[in-house]
Amino acid sequence: MKQRDKTRLVHVARNHAEADTNSVNPAIVRASTVLYKDTSTLKSVRGRRERGERVFSYGARGTPTTFALEDALSEIEQGARTMLFPTGLAAIAHVLLSVLKPGDHCLLSESIYGPARAIAVRYLAQRGIACEFYHGGHEEVARRLKPETRMVYVEIPGSIIYDLQDLPAIAALLEGRDDTLLAADNTWGASGLYRPLTLGADISIVAITKYIAGHSDLVMGSVTANARSADQLCFDAGLLGQTVSSDDAYLALRGLRTASARMAMHRAHAMEVIGWLERQPQVDRVLYPPLPSHPGHELWKRDFTGANGLLSVSFKPYVTQDDADRLVDRLKLFGIGASWGGFESLAIVYPQGGVKGWSGGALVRLHIGLEDPADIIADLEQGFAELPG
Ligand SMILES: Cc1ncc(COP(=O)(O)O)c(C=O)c1O
Repeated sequence: MKQRDKTRLVHVARNHAEADTNSVNPAIVRASTVLYKDTSTLKSVRGRRERGERVFSYGARGTPTTFALEDALSEIEQGARTMLFPTGLAAIAHVLLSVLKPGDHCLLSESIYGPARAIAVRYLAQRGIACEFYHGGHEEVARRLKPETRMVYVEIPGSIIYDLQDLPAIAALLEGRDDTLLAADNTWGASGLYRPLTLGADISIVAITKYIAGHSDLVMGSVTANARSADQLCFDAGLLGQTVSSDDAYLALRGLRTASARMAMHRAHAMEVIGWLERQPQVDRVLYPPLPSHPGHELWKRDFTGANGLLSVSFKPYVTQDDADRLVDRLKLFGIGASWGGFESLAIVYPQGGVKGWSGGALVRLHIGLEDPADIIADLEQGFAELPG
């Protein structure tokens, strides 16, 4: 029976728990050493591992708890295999480092997460990998593809401004190029709001730290790969010793179970707050893909199944950077913090000129949390009260 998204989030990978204990959730298996009953069992496990099979043979290669999370993510992202990493950034680094070699060319969309950009500029470029950033849509990709392009790397929606890319159109450009992979950072659309692998990408990266963890209490990243890219990425992840703790994997799986309820509430609260923000004279516009005013709205409607609580506010030119700083300092309910996706509201200011792909004024990014929207709006009201105009 084909399951709908909400059902799948509740039931996916539950067989791991049932097989061991009949409990609803998997056991937290804390392990380094795994014992074998005899040498022939050890030999057979080694053989399976050498053939690329995932086996519980040593805690550093994964445990039944981390395997349960991997399987859940593979099914939600509809990929062949998922690998787990200590942070979202480590997951991004793994994809770039495993695929790209000296002499290769990599095309990256301009509004990717800043530290991902830094990997390209400060690490890959120095090792003979040509990294080129493009601003705009798939037409720009078409213009810049080279025979030596081995990867197109996108983040959809892009960081801070949430610009959207037409992923199927980019994938169509790569058809027939067997050695060029399309990778997407899917942190915004995690938990099934967006499924890059069903739209032509080979690799979907998620910072589990954000909405899947959902409670601001762990850091982790995942890479879900399709059949053509999984083998090398998995092999290299093992080779380089990438793993996560079973305790964190358990928490991430627990976060996943409630993701659809949280996402719906984040989105509903965001819409209420946006209604208020758009009535404020100082606000130029709110950047949030579900709004018809958003330049990528049609793509969001076509390719996404939902939204969350992350948005940015741009102000009229007379609101200075200092005004925006003072506004954020006055907020009481909102924490000043960067790592969105938890249950709580956050605000952070991005200075004028400091956001790639954005030429307007200062931006304030808000993460709208699970607090009562009336309280969130009341907090913003007192913060806005001292803004000019
Ligand atoms: C879009 C996106 N991708 C990746 C990351 C990196 O995740 P982590 O903080 O777990 O390294 C972040 C973190 O803010 C992010 O916003």
